[in-house]
Amino acid sequence: MNLGAALSQPIPGISPDVYGEADFHAIAEIVYAGSGNVLPKGKAMLVYSRIAPLVRESGCGTFGNYVALIRRDPEQQARAVAALTTNHTFFYREAHHFDFFDQEVRPSIVKKLAAGRPARLWSAGCSSGEETWSLVMALLGADKSEGARIARGDIRVLATDLAPHALTKAKAAQYEAKDLQPMPSDFVRHWTQTEGNTTAIGEVARSLVRFRSLNLLHDWPMHGKFDAIFCRNVMIYFDNETKERLVARFADMLFPGSHLFIGHSERVTGPAARVLEPVGPTIYRKRMS
Ligand SMILES: C[S@@+](CC[C@H](N)C(=O)[O-])C[C@H]1O[C@@H](n2cnc3c(N)ncnc32)[C@H](O)[C@@H]1O
Repeated sequence: MNLGAALSQPIPGISPDVYGEADFHAIAEIVYAGSGNVLPKGKAMLVYSRIAPLVRESGCGTFGNYVALIRRDPEQQARAVAALTTNHTFFYREAHHFDFFDQEVRPSIVKKLAAGRPARLWSAGCSSGEETWSLVMALLGADKSEGARIARGDIRVLATDLAPHALTKAKAAQYEAKDLQPMPSDFVRHWTQTEGNTTAIGEVARSLVRFRSLNLLHDWPMHGKFDAIFCRNVMIYFDNETKERLVARFADMLFPGSHLFIGHSERVTGPAARVLEPVGPTIYRKRMS
């Protein structure tokens, strides 16, 4: 069946006739194997619109030739996989997570840092950085001198994603000023600078974050454990088996008593449910034993 012919707006230079059902299935299989993201049949048109520009750029001419290319070329395959990620995100998404963080997690981090001990946070699947910067500002808080004291401690925030285009935006740390409207105004005042319509994340906040490219399905290079992990609206695109494997790995990376925050429509199931107890809506704490 020719899927592309059903398109109202074909991509210039790539005739819809060169996109068939077999091409969609082959791409969906490659994306699943490469990233865990499941592309149901309803996404066939999305696959066409995101991949056709890459087919054109590669000079392959047809989706069939392009599928053969991404099967043999890991770099091209990574580009295809990244192009099919969903990167939708926004500042202070699921505000109740940041309220919980402020009341239940931040105080113990502040104590650790004051005692000269390290603290580590992870924004896993950070997309273009809105989650990471929301978390960093929640950590620094509404009191500028306390935030500066926190930033002088041994605190690091790791932020990872597999999509290079999203990481580039996250690292640039510049957003339209209106995007930060959901944030508490003191956070924005202390930890960002606005000029015209652009808000830049300030130096103190930036100094705490390391952005890294990381596929959550692959090996993780980190050795130490985390005081909190945010992995929100990432697993929603995974099947159950992949989700359960991933949350079990997150549980291993948490200190006992530390927290995992997941997306509003996600929940912890499988073996990890024995070690991660729910302590709030989509918030889990690793049991002490
Ligand atoms: C919808 S965004 C969520 C962003 C943010 N966590 C939030 O809740 O607003 C999902 C992100 O997960 C990333 N992602 C998907 N599969 C991944 C994988 N296997 N490894 C790493 N990141 C992945 C995507 O690139 C995308 O940026």
